[in-house]
This record gives sequence, structure tokens and C-alpha cells, in this order.
Amino acid sequence: MTDRHTKSRIDWVSESCRLLAQIEAEFARTKPFQDLTIGTGIHLEPKTAVLLRTLHSGGARIVATGNLNSTQPETVRYLLEHGVEVTAEQTIDHEVHDLSLNQIIAEQPDLLLDNGGDLFAVYAESPYPGLIGGTEETTSGRMRLEPMRAELQRPILVINDSPIKQFAENRHAVGQSMFESYMRVTNRSTNGKRVTVFGYGACGRGVAACFRNAHSVVSVVDADPVKALEAHLDGFSTPLRPDAIRSADVIVTETGAVNVIAAGDIEHFKDGVILMNGGHFPTEIAVGDLTDSAMVVRRDQFEELEIESLRLKDGRAVHIVSGGHMANLAGPRPLGNSIESMDLGFALQARCLEYIAQGRATKADCVVPVPNAIDADIANAYLALNR
Ligand SMILES: NC(=O)c1ccc[n+]([C@@H]2O[C@H](COP(=O)([O-])OP(=O)(O)OC[C@H]3O[C@@H](n4cnc5c(N)ncnc54)[C@H](O)[C@@H]3O)[C@@H](O)[C@H]2O)c1
Repeated sequence: MTDRHTKSRIDWVSESCRLLAQIEAEFARTKPFQDLTIGTGIHLEPKTAVLLRTLHSGGARIVATGNLNSTQPETVRYLLEHGVEVTAEQTIDHEVHDLSLNQIIAEQPDLLLDNGGDLFAVYAESPYPGLIGGTEETTSGRMRLEPMRAELQRPILVINDSPIKQFAENRHAVGQSMFESYMRVTNRSTNGKRVTVFGYGACGRGVAACFRNAHSVVSVVDADPVKALEAHLDGFSTPLRPDAIRSADVIVTETGAVNVIAAGDIEHFKDGVILMNGGHFPTEIAVGDLTDSAMVVRRDQFEELEIESLRLKDGRAVHIVSGGHMANLAGPRPLGNSIESMDLGFALQARCLEYIAQGRATKADCVVPVPNAIDADIANAYLALNR
């Protein structure tokens, strides 16, 4: 009889990250991070565990923390077992999170791998000379770091601005995972539902397309008229903002902006509307202002589902998923974006950190896109694995 072995979800993810597996094997030989410390502030979930293990195999000491509300204890345990030093807990408390960011920067890492600009912001408050540079994963982080270039003056490559990240993760994978999260968290149908997507950038396009493919009636609101026109020509309705809110059974924000849905919108909400955010920061939906509104007479928390339901004076209900935190990394058994999309994005991360560690980027490369040669290298490697 053949032996049967028990494996974990992280094992499944690890075996599915075929690009990272190749890079991990190469790094184990070439050791590009020998004697360097890499400080990381990125969602601690199974795919990041594989990335951090890959960097560790390249000789780096890794000091890691997570982002707000997305730290998975199983991943923390796995990383600790694999030699990564983790200072993180599942929290939505900004003070607790800030404490762990400060602990990472106190280690004075040589390289930073950031997601949302949290680590670089703490570095800018207490800089040290040894920082060589690093990477930033997201749109929201790039927006935060651009005005800080004068303080940072280090090579910082923005993974988000690689065309590969744009189409593989933001366009295709975020749409799928936000759709999957709507189904997983609410267990409600999509057929015939009126869905309004705020933001028609890379992520919003994918979200709009996935709900349309699932037989929803999708509207788009974008502050940029050019993007709204693109949505219109793609066949989505683009009503005026109040009409788009009034008609919506589900509202998804994907903008990178603040207070996109705010207390002033309460008067327009349809009874039973579901509010979900897919943007990096929970502030896209002004949850505090909504819950504190004088219109709210009762608050119910569906605990396991991370859904808060507000009952309004006039009897309408408003459901908020996960306090406005990124829905695809929240709620019961969050999966995040597809493994293949993250394998591509994290291969970019690994190659960009290697590029900076090798001194191939200069301080003029502060908050700039991934070098074209790295994009081409990753694209060739992925295509070769899939022919
Ligand atoms: N959930 C995830 O897994 C995941 C993955 C990647 C990126 N993100 C995040 O998703 C967000 C969007 O990323 P993106 O790459 O699509 O950004 P993007 O810049 O390509 O698109 C954002 C769009 O939102 C529009 N917008 C801005 N403010 C608006 C407002 N008040 N109302 C309506 N539209 C508005 C902009 O005009 C733009 O078209 C960012 O916060 C990013 O960090 C999340």
C-alpha cells in the first residue's frame, strides 16, 4: 500500500508557486542577500510565506511584520519554523500595528519590502544610513511615497507599476478574488444583482468584468471622466454618482482614495446594500462616519462573517463587510488573489530586491517602476513553464 501524507494549505501554495520555486533554488546557490537583513511589511498569508522563504534561501536574515487585519496565524507559525523572525499579530488596532513596524525599523534592515508604504514612512521618521533601498508593492504605497522622495533618496522599485503586476494581479486576479470573497462572505447570489464599482483602474476593471460575467448588472463610477468613458465603451452603465448608489445592491470600492463612500451617501442607499472595499486602505469607506450617523438606530455584528449590519431609522439595512478592510483578505478563510498572479508578482519582488542588493539601481531610481529587463525575464520564465 502507498503511504498517504498530510500536507497543509501552505504546502499547496508552495508547490503551486513554480516561478518562486525556480528562484528559490537559484538563490540557494547564488546567495544574493548574504549578510543582509530584509525588513518586510506585507500581508502574512501563505503566498507571502513562500516569498519570504525564497528571500531567506538567498542568505537574508528576514524580520517580518504584516499589514492591518490580514495576518494569518498559520502563516506566522510556518515562517517561524522556517527561520523568519516575525513580529506580527492579527489586528485592526493602528497602535499595535505601529509598534510592530517600529520594531522592524529598529533592526535597521539593509533592504525593505513594503506594502502600502508603512515601513518607509516609519523609516523616514527615524532614518539610518545603512538602508540600501527596497520595494513597494502597491498603488496606495506609491501614492504615499512619491511626495517623500527627498527624504528617502534610495532606490525603491514599485512592483505595482510593472505591466505584469497590472494585468496579472490587479486586472485579472483582484476581480476574481473580490468576486470569490463576495460569494464566500455573503453566500448571496450575483444573478440579476445591481453592482456599482467605484474606480475603473486596473482593479476596478477586473471587478466590474467578473460581476458582469456572473450575470450581475454592473455600473461604474470613476472620478476621472476618461476612465468613466472607458467603462462606458466597455459596455458598463456610468450613471451619475447618486443614481449609481441608489440603484446598487452591492457597492465595491477599488480606488486607492479616501472616503469614497461617506455618511452623506446614507440617504441614497438601497435597503440591504452590501458595502465592500478592495482598495488597500479601509478608509475608502468611511465606516466610522457611517456607524456613528444619527440615522443609525441599531448595529448587529455577524461575527464569523465579519459583516456589520446597520439598521437605519427608516427601517433600511446597510451591510458593511469586514469594517471596510480589503474583503479578499478578510472574512472566513480568506484566500487573497490567485496563486499564479502572486507567484508572478512575488517573482518580480524577488528579482527587484536582488537587483537593488547587487547595487544595480541608483538613488535616482527612487519610487520608479520595475526595470523592463526584469519584466521580460519574468514573462519569459512564466511562459516557458506554461508551454
Ligand atoms: N485587494 C487586493 O488584493 C489589491 C491588489 C492590488 C491593488 N489593490 C488596491 O486597489 C486600489 C486600486 O488599485 P488600482 O491599481 O486599480 O488603482 P488605479 O490607480 O489604476 O485606479 C484607481 C481608479 O480609481 C479612480 N478614483 C479615485 N478616486 C475616486 C473616487 N473618489 N471615486 C471614484 N473613482 C475614483 C481613479 O480615477 C482611478 O481610475 C489601490 O488601493 C490598490 O493598492 C488591492
